[in-house]
Amino acid sequence: MSELRTTAVIAPEDLARQRDYEKSIRAMFASREAHPLACVDTFGCQQNVADGEKLMGMLSEMGFSFTSEPKEADLVILNTCAVREHAEQRVFGNLGILTHSKRENPEQVICLCGCMAQEERVAKRVKESYRHVDLVFGPHALWKFPELLNEVYTTRKRVFSVADEPGAIAEGIPTLRERGVKAWVSIMYGCNNFCSYCIVPYVRGRERSREKACVVEEVRSLIASGYREITLLGQNVNSYGKDLNAGYDFADLLKELDGIEGDYWLRFMSSHPKDASEKLFRVMAGSKHVAHQLHLPFQSGSDRVLAAMNRRYTRAQYTGLIEKARALMPDLVLTSDVIIGFPGETEDEAMETVSLVRELGFDALFTFIYSPRPGTKAAALPDIVPRQEKQRWFDILLDAQNTYSAEKHASYIGKTLRVLVDGESNDKDFPLASRTEGNRLVRLKGEKDLIGQFAEVRITGSNTWALYGEAQGGIPRG
Ligand code: SAM
Ligand code: SF4
Ligand code: F3S
Repeated sequence: MSELRTTAVIAPEDLARQRDYEKSIRAMFASREAHPLACVDTFGCQQNVADGEKLMGMLSEMGFSFTSEPKEADLVILNTCAVREHAEQRVFGNLGILTHSKRENPEQVICLCGCMAQEERVAKRVKESYRHVDLVFGPHALWKFPELLNEVYTTRKRVFSVADEPGAIAEGIPTLRERGVKAWVSIMYGCNNFCSYCIVPYVRGRERSREKACVVEEVRSLIASGYREITLLGQNVNSYGKDLNAGYDFADLLKELDGIEGDYWLRFMSSHPKDASEKLFRVMAGSKHVAHQLHLPFQSGSDRVLAAMNRRYTRAQYTGLIEKARALMPDLVLTSDVIIGFPGETEDEAMETVSLVRELGFDALFTFIYSPRPGTKAAALPDIVPRQEKQRWFDILLDAQNTYSAEKHASYIGKTLRVLVDGESNDKDFPLASRTEGNRLVRLKGEKDLIGQFAEVRITGSNTWALYGEAQGGIPRG
């Protein structure tokens, strides 16, 4: 372990204690005929999905099986997101509904975790008004979930573990991944950027990177066990390594991972434009496995709004980065995040965002109307533009993007592309779902045994959101 690292690492003996709690809970349920059932409902970003896989890994060690039906579960977990108000409202709605299942089964344990749980005002509200919730813990306490659950089972008291902390690194938590095709691998946690609208740094703590040996080993073992696509996760992966003080950055990590033998794609998200470097683009361009795909959120096309958002780059710097990346990777697939209606934004400024979208041509955009998050700097700013007006600007943005996406997708028709078939689709005429190297969705005609394989696909149709095609034959697993 790096001697110079500036962030805390959970001690092996503390982690081992959690494995002991898993065994005690398993023993407690051993006398029952049926396996205990858990219902884990995850909201939010891939980071939270990765945390959900750890929760399920720990539950599996405790002897739990899984159900998607809260009514039949012995344990219900809401793994929450705090990024927008709407996400929070949904969770409070779900918590309300759970009063019924708890009434029918008073033994049921209800747990609220994830980013919302780390917010002081949320924990307080749950403590006072949602008394059927037994366990509340934030992302910082994820590693000690077995201990917290054991406390609930042994004391039958409500347990809250939501202290505000900078956060730490915990290795070796059991993980239950969904299927053997795609895997999420967190390489770092937290965020130091404090964009003025964003709650994430308050609930996920400071940036901390995993030791490179741990990341390399995890990726190597996933590839060896047949995973075909690995996505490296962090709120700002370009900051990877800063706290390790080892002179080793994200581009170095990507290059090292690219050296692992096998047939697979490597992706990563998200990147922050202020830290995206030419070095990174060169590594991507020269790599064998790194997908030529970049998710680089720009948020606004107006320099005044970017400064008010505390993004620390200008429109010109952003376009300069994209020019460099495209010069090195002409086939680059580019996606981004955008916020419309930041407090004080004028119609002209919102239209600067639309003009940047038209100027750069994004393959896809994740678009959001600004949502005030209590405790962030932006939430204290005057915000006088009515929602209806913001919606009008938003619709102009969507229209510009949808027109471009449809044209871009149509340009694929007649081409043959390599895709990774990752499951079934909900379209009976094109029953398989797959992704291109650029992560575009392709619905496919083909046999189910292609799932989990790379395949060559001839593109026969498209719309704004997806491509359609026919498999030309699978490439067997190597
Ligand atoms: N760390 C990533 C980055 O900076 O690129 C983004 C993480 S955030 C979970 C995903 C997206 O949610 C952001 O890029 C932003 O567009 C959006 N977002 C964050 N806070 C928001 C807010 N208060 N209102 C609306 N959208 C928000
Ligand atoms: Fe939020 Fe900004 Fe951090 Fe992304 S970089 S998580 S938008 S504070
Ligand atoms: Fe939401 Fe937390 Fe992710 S706030 S977007 S789940 S980091």
